[in-house]
Amino acid sequence: MEKQFPEGFLWGGAVAANQCEGAAFEGGKGLSVADIAPKGVRGPYDSAIDPNKYYPHAQAVDFYHRYPEDLGYMKELGLKCFRTSIAWSRIFPKGDETEPNEEGLQFYDRLFDEIRRDGMEPLVTISHYETPLYLVDHYGGWRNREMISFFLKYCKVIFQRYHSKVKYWLTFNEMNNVHNFPFVAGGFRVAEGENEIEALYQASHYMFVAAAQSVALLHQIDPACQIGCMISTSTLYPATCRPNDVFGAYTGQRRKYFFVDVPVNGRYPGYIKRVWRENNVRLETRPEDFEALKNTVDFIGFSYYRSSTYEDGKQLHSDTGGFISDPNPYLKSTDFGWQIDPMGLRLVCNELTDLFHKPLFIVENGIGTRETLVNGTVEDDYRIDFVRQHLLAVYQAILDGCNIMGYTYWGPFDIVSAGTAQMEKRYGFVYIDKDDNGNGSLKRYKKKSFTFYQQVIATNGACLFE
Ligand code: BG6
Repeated sequence: MEKQFPEGFLWGGAVAANQCEGAAFEGGKGLSVADIAPKGVRGPYDSAIDPNKYYPHAQAVDFYHRYPEDLGYMKELGLKCFRTSIAWSRIFPKGDETEPNEEGLQFYDRLFDEIRRDGMEPLVTISHYETPLYLVDHYGGWRNREMISFFLKYCKVIFQRYHSKVKYWLTFNEMNNVHNFPFVAGGFRVAEGENEIEALYQASHYMFVAAAQSVALLHQIDPACQIGCMISTSTLYPATCRPNDVFGAYTGQRRKYFFVDVPVNGRYPGYIKRVWRENNVRLETRPEDFEALKNTVDFIGFSYYRSSTYEDGKQLHSDTGGFISDPNPYLKSTDFGWQIDPMGLRLVCNELTDLFHKPLFIVENGIGTRETLVNGTVEDDYRIDFVRQHLLAVYQAILDGCNIMGYTYWGPFDIVSAGTAQMEKRYGFVYIDKDDNGNGSLKRYKKKSFTFYQQVIATNGACLFE
């Protein structure tokens, strides 16, 4: 029998509103945390927009106006699924209003209709590093319990409005990154001298409760819809076979999987209670929070870009793609230093399956590189190779028994990077003429990899084996 992917596999592409839409001041939109982070998720963040400064997210690649053209390319690729997020501050510009912004709602009506007309199933992230800035400045973001009700009000509006157009939903993008860059992922700051660990777990608790309540709400509004959690994964290998390196790597990995453990199992695991005990963490919780947590997700969404290594005694730091570590001598890296490791993806799929027994959705994977347009295209053979190797790893994971719903390649057209807010970290199958200073015609050009991904989808993966 010819080798190919399972029938109905959701081949796709993924973006986030703040990284592609631009039009930050149009349609009644309020500012979000992304808008004032001109250097990306690790800051520095401005307190307001400085009119003399360039903010990459504010314009991005103008998807807000050019989505018919961009989705046209996605249709030509043959995508079955298109992941994007709703910019929360288009719907509730400040976040605490009682009535939503109709203009924002109409934009997503048009967008989801177009996605469907182009033959794709929308997959929508409710909150992708886009907390309304007003909620940060006036309520302290996710450190405040009141955020749960603001979030649920927003969820109710978008679920009621779009449930017949959007079947697949994700709660918080890469929720584990609240512990790595709390401002962008959770809309809050940790002051110096505070118990940082307590602040991080408190915000996470409110987010877990809000996410679980949104699961219940969606199921109640439309039982045919499915909703998943979403974390950033990356395999963390022990740097050596020293037992301390091995256990340290395991612990690092488990700290990520914790953000799946709670939404899938509906309770806090023992290893985290130990972290709380040892760090004087006293959470503000209510009995009803633990009832709410029992509303568990339908599937596990995750991003995977690279792997890292862990050596005992070293501090673990992360950025958008995972842990930052010393180079692994067995792997090559991208020109942004991300180690290319398809086997790591197979490993993550297997680990998540073994631990949680839920369908998986690979909602981000891709390669970001510096590229130059030559004769109207980019000869990106490295991207072809990256995608081929990662998809072959996904295929192996499926043979291993993992139930994988789909694969949405990250940034199928060039967008602003979350990590560094650069345009020049390009992931796309479609090149967009714009540079890091905001210059460029915004014209779109197909790269060589465009035809490759098109063929992969057209053959349901069979061409990968030729
Ligand atoms: C994920 C995020 O962390 O990685 C995306 O969900 C992000 O928003 C992607 O763009 C790639 O990271 P970066 O920093 O290269 O844009």
